[in-house]
Amino acid sequence: MCGIIGYAGKKNAEKIIIKGLSRLEYRGYDSAGIAVLEKGDLHIRKKQGKLSVLADELKRAPLKGVTGIGHTRWATHGIPSDINAHPHPSGSEDIAVVHNGIIENYREIKKHLQNKGYLFRSDTDSEVIAHLVSDNYKGDLYLAVKGAVKKIRGSYAFAVVHRDEPGRIVGSRMDAPLIAGVGKGENFVASDIPAILDHTKKVIYLENGDIVDLSSQDLKVFDRTGRKARRKKDTITWDISQAEKKGYKHFMLKEIFEQPDVMRDIINTRLKKEKVVFQELSIKKKDLAKIKNIAIVACGTAYHAGLTAKYMIEKHTGIPVWVDTSSEFRYRDPLVDKKTLTVVISQSGETADTLAALREARKKGSSVLAVCNVVGSSIARESDGVVYTHAGPEIAVASTKAYVAQLTSLYLLTIYLAEAKGAKKADTDALVKQLKKLPAEADRLLDGYRSKKNPIAKYAEEFHKYYLARHNKSCFLYLARNINFPNALEGALKLKEISYISAEGYPAGEMKHGPIALIDENPWVVCIAVRSATYEKMISNIQEIRARGGIVIAIVSEGDREIKGTKAKYVIEIPDVPEVFSPALVVIPLQLLAYYVAAEFGYDIDQPRNLAKSVTVE
Ligand code: AGP
Repeated sequence: MCGIIGYAGKKNAEKIIIKGLSRLEYRGYDSAGIAVLEKGDLHIRKKQGKLSVLADELKRAPLKGVTGIGHTRWATHGIPSDINAHPHPSGSEDIAVVHNGIIENYREIKKHLQNKGYLFRSDTDSEVIAHLVSDNYKGDLYLAVKGAVKKIRGSYAFAVVHRDEPGRIVGSRMDAPLIAGVGKGENFVASDIPAILDHTKKVIYLENGDIVDLSSQDLKVFDRTGRKARRKKDTITWDISQAEKKGYKHFMLKEIFEQPDVMRDIINTRLKKEKVVFQELSIKKKDLAKIKNIAIVACGTAYHAGLTAKYMIEKHTGIPVWVDTSSEFRYRDPLVDKKTLTVVISQSGETADTLAALREARKKGSSVLAVCNVVGSSIARESDGVVYTHAGPEIAVASTKAYVAQLTSLYLLTIYLAEAKGAKKADTDALVKQLKKLPAEADRLLDGYRSKKNPIAKYAEEFHKYYLARHNKSCFLYLARNINFPNALEGALKLKEISYISAEGYPAGEMKHGPIALIDENPWVVCIAVRSATYEKMISNIQEIRARGGIVIAIVSEGDREIKGTKAKYVIEIPDVPEVFSPALVVIPLQLLAYYVAAEFGYDIDQPRNLAKSVTVE
């Protein structure tokens, strides 16, 4: 996910663009760049690193033009570097483009244009847009863009300028957000409202296939057929402080609600004609077919994703899998060798223990596959192969959308490995079909929680009252079985890391081996009891807890009537999906419960005490 902005007006474009990009850094921040039209020339400045690096360079050599475009990047193709930063110029450097999205057919476009003599400088997919527009340019930038988008497949929101057309910006979108801002004697284009809210509250939400053609005095929108489109002009009611979070109070809540789109983007990116493809994976499928066992290594939430993957991979590929925390793996002289595939999972790609574990595995001859969210991160670069999770930047320290992105990517990896191991096509096709339904089910689940007054917020409020009434003494126990057991750990981790309340996750079958001693009317016990082979066992666990006066929050499959009968105090329904896919939905109410409990206590949810987003030290 990246942020783009364009400005055409009478003021200094550089200042407006840099400020606008600072409002979009929540969308990506591994490099930034700007292109400004000035006295018949096109000036491009771009730097790896945060926006401040670019801003410092511009202080030394400011740009004066009144029209320009800017970009803050979250790399998907090509590591973060000056050359891979946007804007990308065309070969003749008379065109510059900034782009958010993934051009799926960029390889074929690139090859075609290289055969026509176009020279590419970067490793990105986005650069093809600059050369394609240039190849279509016959003196009118709108027509050149119109011709170019006909050849592009994938998701895009881009803006482009031409040296010979001062004051003009043309942009287009498909499956990536792009708005136009209508000012007085100035107009804007941007990925999101925060970028332009300092200047105008009048926005047009462009639709898929639209092309916007703007200058300081004029703004036209054309639809995908080329006809002039009448698009509603909206007035924004947010103030800027809310806007980076799109109106949510915290990044964590925004990122919880982004999860259906994250799942959708990953599935759409990874499925080509219903076949799973990992464009960037350099480990060959035939080599994957030879592996005898899999070691999954990670920390924290990523570790819980790995534990969940164990159930999926063993069930659908027959490959034995064991899972370790990175800090244990790296010091226990692990029995991995060239027949082992070591899968390291890391949102940040910089976690010290996981990086060390990766090195240990490679030293022992194991191939290493990274499941990572940050392109070009240390773990991604040092692995033999990488699968990027494309979750976009996760700002809140407590990981939510990155976890669901890991699960989604691991589901796809399971199917890919099953195919490599010769699984029946009918079986893998069935898995793909079920997986494709998940994003819509996640949307439907979240629909029940879009208002601030929702059931889970109510449970959190009641817990808060209960906690205070017991003089700040209470805790949580999370119980689950089988593929949802890792979610018991994840739910406990989410709660403790943002609400600082003691919480433990346990396999429900272990309750009698100790934890049941904890049960009186305290702790509150979250029981994950969705439709599964161990459902009846979960009912027994709930009854045992109730018999001792315990308070149960049960997470059940939609339509479940039996659990209500066992007097679970609170029941949260999730869509009834096949058990193997349920973890990606079960985790959502667990995230919301942690969020609303922490909100009741008034803690700093996005930046909890003692924690860092990426633990780059041991
Ligand atoms: C999860 O909410 C925590 N922020 C933490 O456990 C995190 O998952 C862990 O530090 C691993 O980080 P990584 O995925 O970036 O390697």
